[in-house]
Amino acid sequence: MFNLNDKVAVVTGAARGLGQAIAVKLAEAGADVALCDLKAEWLEETAGKVRALGRRAEMYGVNVADGESVAAGIKAIEKDFEKIDVLVNNAGITKDGLLMRMSEEDWDAVLDVNLKGVFLCTKAATRGMMKRRSGTIVNIASVIGLMGNAGQANYAASKGGVISFSKTVAKELASRNVRCNAVAPGFIRTAMTDKLDEEVQGKMKELIPLGRFGEPEDVANVVLFLASDASAYVTGQVLSTCGGMVM
Ligand SMILES: NC(=O)c1ccc[n+]([C@@H]2O[C@H](COP(=O)([O-])OP(=O)(O)OC[C@H]3O[C@@H](n4cnc5c(N)ncnc54)[C@H](O)[C@@H]3O)[C@@H](O)[C@H]2O)c1
Repeated sequence: MFNLNDKVAVVTGAARGLGQAIAVKLAEAGADVALCDLKAEWLEETAGKVRALGRRAEMYGVNVADGESVAAGIKAIEKDFEKIDVLVNNAGITKDGLLMRMSEEDWDAVLDVNLKGVFLCTKAATRGMMKRRSGTIVNIASVIGLMGNAGQANYAASKGGVISFSKTVAKELASRNVRCNAVAPGFIRTAMTDKLDEEVQGKMKELIPLGRFGEPEDVANVVLFLASDASAYVTGQVLSTCGGMVM
């Protein structure tokens, strides 16, 4: 059902965290994977995990916020793999602070990576998809893009933007058989959430009906569904992966 044999997937921000889990999950389903992150050498660990599954992995140093870097990266991937079937826009950053203290620099940095990065990568990768009349894009948004969060005006705006961008791309490219969906993770257990003290973790858990933080694999499973033909009739949707935190 979730067969990605003969498919080529691109995952941005694949060096660690959700990006690494997504790359490995797609490889488990049979995909060859083009791994992108700010520095190619950061991708060694993920590439090792993909290759251990018998799938091809290549590493690319790409700054998703930089149009020239993205164009060169996608060109190299299309040369090496001859096509792109799946694009997962996962790279993202936070620079939190209350609105009154948020600098223009921190606003721009988050919007540049989280929103402009998704635009640049999608535009570059969909040219080939449109020609071949086949492809699927999965954008990693966040529940914060749906509900907002004090101290994250830049992040919330970027993820809300990713959601409406995804719906627009879905409408523009549906006639070419290219689908585009967003995943909105909630609190996922990563280095970031592990750092929070127990009291804060406890309060967060109270907001989650399923009573636990998500694991990177919970998000990767949803990405796999949206990347595969099992979701062939799904486009322009936002799939929250948050233990029921947002309904
Ligand atoms: N962890 C969570 O709880 C959570 C919740 C909701 C949404 N998300 C989203 O999931 C995605 C991954 O989050 P994570 O927790 O794995 O983060 P992470 O910080 O562990 O990993 C992000 C990766 O993106 C890379 N990256 C950053 N800027 C980049 C750029 N300009 N170009 C290319 N790569 C770049 C980093 O080097 C890193 O490898 C992000 O978009 C994040 O907003 C995470």
